Amino acid sequence: MQSLSQFLTERGVDPQLQPLLQALAQCGVEISQLVRRGALAGVLGATETENVQGETQKKLDVIANDLIKQRLAAEPSVKAMASEEEDHTVDAHADGHYLVSFDPLDGSSNIDINSLVGTIFSVLPASDRKGEAAFMQPGINQVAACYVLYGPATVLALTTGEGTSLFSLDPDTGEFLLVEDAMTIPAETNEFAINASNQRFWQPAMQSYIADLLAGDTGPRGKNFNMRWIAAMVGDVHRVLCRGGIFTYPTDTKNPAKPYKLRLMYEANPMAMLVEQAGGSASTGYERILTLQPEAIHQRVAVILGSRDEVAACLGYHSQA
Ligand code: AHG
Ligand code: MN
Ligand code: MN
Ligand code: MN
Repeated sequence: MQSLSQFLTERGVDPQLQPLLQALAQCGVEISQLVRRGALAGVLGATETENVQGETQKKLDVIANDLIKQRLAAEPSVKAMASEEEDHTVDAHADGHYLVSFDPLDGSSNIDINSLVGTIFSVLPASDRKGEAAFMQPGINQVAACYVLYGPATVLALTTGEGTSLFSLDPDTGEFLLVEDAMTIPAETNEFAINASNQRFWQPAMQSYIADLLAGDTGPRGKNFNMRWIAAMVGDVHRVLCRGGIFTYPTDTKNPAKPYKLRLMYEANPMAMLVEQAGGSASTGYERILTLQPEAIHQRVAVILGSRDEVAACLGYHSQA
């Protein structure tokens, strides 16, 4: 089986990018070890601090963030970092070629129930711009996107813009091995993922779309749909990459000051790249996620992604609205 390092070399991935991608994978290995030990490693439970998002940080949010920050600060190709758990960007090497945005631990509410969590990375090219301004590039500029999912097996999905590949961690050697090259999301699906408890806060377009899915084979869609919700975007997107589906965290009016939940730079953009590279689509309902011009590192956005035809069907409801 091909190791991640063999894969990167054989695919001719930019030699400057290779050590960085190895470093991201190594972060995944180390976080995976902590997640595996759970209560035994003393990593469960919450802290008394809040992040810039207004969320109470879990211990593992902070531990994973510190681990990644430290590891990437030692990587000469990293110019700066942006993290869900950091108020501001963090500078690393002034002559570094890359900017890395990350969600150190996605699915924080799953930690204490021993359910799926993951880590998400987005890599952008560095420029002469400094601080937050350097990161204000649309997702199409990403040179790589990846996530690590700490499930029954620890897996890593990676794209450098030439398809999406899946690796599985061999816990005995600490190496990621290629298990699926060129992942392909089926264009059609009968599975959707949405937090339905927000239903009364959705816009009319999403209300109608989901109502038609729920109507099943006697409704306008003429078929039955199944529903799944993992409460960790990494887990839901992984399922979509493996067997298709549509995943959405739409606009809602639950908290008028916060009409969107997911963050553009370290959730929506990297996942959109991984999904598009596997033949799927990713939109806000009105625009392709990867062409959005960011305005802030912690900016939030509506997300509708997954199987191409199903995303198109959902967008149809938005264009009529
Ligand atoms: P995070 O744990 O990094 O803050 O992200 C959680 C996000 C995302 O992973 C997930 O899809 C969504 O929040 C879950 O939202 P609900 O709590 O509304 O289910
Ligand atoms: Mn997240
Ligand atoms: Mn997180
Ligand atoms: Mn969070």
